[in-house]
Amino acid sequence: MLTALKGNIIEALSPDILGIHPSSYLVLEDGRVEGIYPTLTENMAETAVEDFGDALILQSFSDMHLHGPQYEYMGTGMDRPLLEWLETYAFPTEAKYSDTSYAREMYRTLAHDLIQNGTTRVAMFSSLHTDSTLILMAELEKAGVTGYVGKVNMDRNAPPYLCETTEESEKETLRWLEESKRFTLVKPILTPRFAPSCSSELLAFLGKLKAERDLPVQSHLSENLGEIALVGQLFPDCPQYWEVYDKYGLFDSKTLMAHCVHSDRRERAAMRLRGVHPVHCASSNNSLMSGISPVADLLREGQKVCLGSDVSGGTTLSMLRTMANSISASKDRGALQQDFSQAISIEHAYYMTTSAGQTFFGHGAGFTVGEKLHAIVLDDTKLPKLPNITLRERLLRAVYRLDDRHIRAVYSEGVRRK
Ligand code: GUN
Ligand code: FE
Repeated sequence: MLTALKGNIIEALSPDILGIHPSSYLVLEDGRVEGIYPTLTENMAETAVEDFGDALILQSFSDMHLHGPQYEYMGTGMDRPLLEWLETYAFPTEAKYSDTSYAREMYRTLAHDLIQNGTTRVAMFSSLHTDSTLILMAELEKAGVTGYVGKVNMDRNAPPYLCETTEESEKETLRWLEESKRFTLVKPILTPRFAPSCSSELLAFLGKLKAERDLPVQSHLSENLGEIALVGQLFPDCPQYWEVYDKYGLFDSKTLMAHCVHSDRRERAAMRLRGVHPVHCASSNNSLMSGISPVADLLREGQKVCLGSDVSGGTTLSMLRTMANSISASKDRGALQQDFSQAISIEHAYYMTTSAGQTFFGHGAGFTVGEKLHAIVLDDTKLPKLPNITLRERLLRAVYRLDDRHIRAVYSEGVRRK
């Protein structure tokens, strides 16, 4: 059956190029993209059209780095750098998720809030608890959020109340992978928390598992200078942080590495050669005073940069805010260095928030023909009607000025969810 959404359609075709279709029809066949047309042809006369008037029809958002159990304390605990922040806030909060009924309640809210904010794809960390991780996957799938969720592995440098033995971590990872088979929209991703949390034995186990089952991996890399120094002490045979992951086979094109704020040329060359996806988390980098990512340089180098909210190092679930924060952070860096080429564009921000994530999940960029629709309708029509404003300018303005209250509709997997 043919259906269509009508409005001003904007897609991110490449990091530099928007596809802009003023007042057009996004035609779907059984929930899959059939094409984008300025008018409906005669053979499409029977199409049921949902007319969103002058609103913007955008790709829905991919949040490529966030921590499910940390959502509850978003906006609090903003006063310490990374390693102290983990001990003081993140670890005690995550420990609560040994309680599965608590996890169910919290994760249901999170899944709902993601859809309300137009996020239909995620790469998310859970906690180390297998059963609560399965609950998180179930709640996301029920709400229509797709993507990857990881049971966190951590067998050292963690408090006793949030630490596994190596053997437990391995056994629980296998159980989690087995039980995850029942999900169709949400898939498992191996999640060594970060190098300091994992013994060499555990990393070797995860690398072997990745190779055997062709699994994706997510972790953190070069977020904070104290963290980098700690990795140097813990893994003296690895000259650079990335080499820990690489040594154990956890650093390739199916790998997401959050932050990479302090990655130097050599580390960045390794990421690019292996096709690793850096995930830029501007809000978190600000909150935890980690640094300001050279995101424009990463893009110029051809790195496959995605965006993440990094809740709750980051202070918002909204990918609209996350885009605005990324643009602002890039300009702070530019201002500090008096290098105006550090500023990223709306094209960059929108691409990193949409198509960059889509390609990590194996989809095409933009609204790819044949793929199930993931889209939002963002209604900016109450903002001033400036006479000569372009759709590109309206997108930038919408990123700065709108939020979930202006997201009129959300489609995931071809189904309307809001
Ligand atoms: N590195 C290791 N764990 C975490 C975490 O929970 N948040 C952030 N931002 N960095 C980390
Ligand atoms: Fe994180």
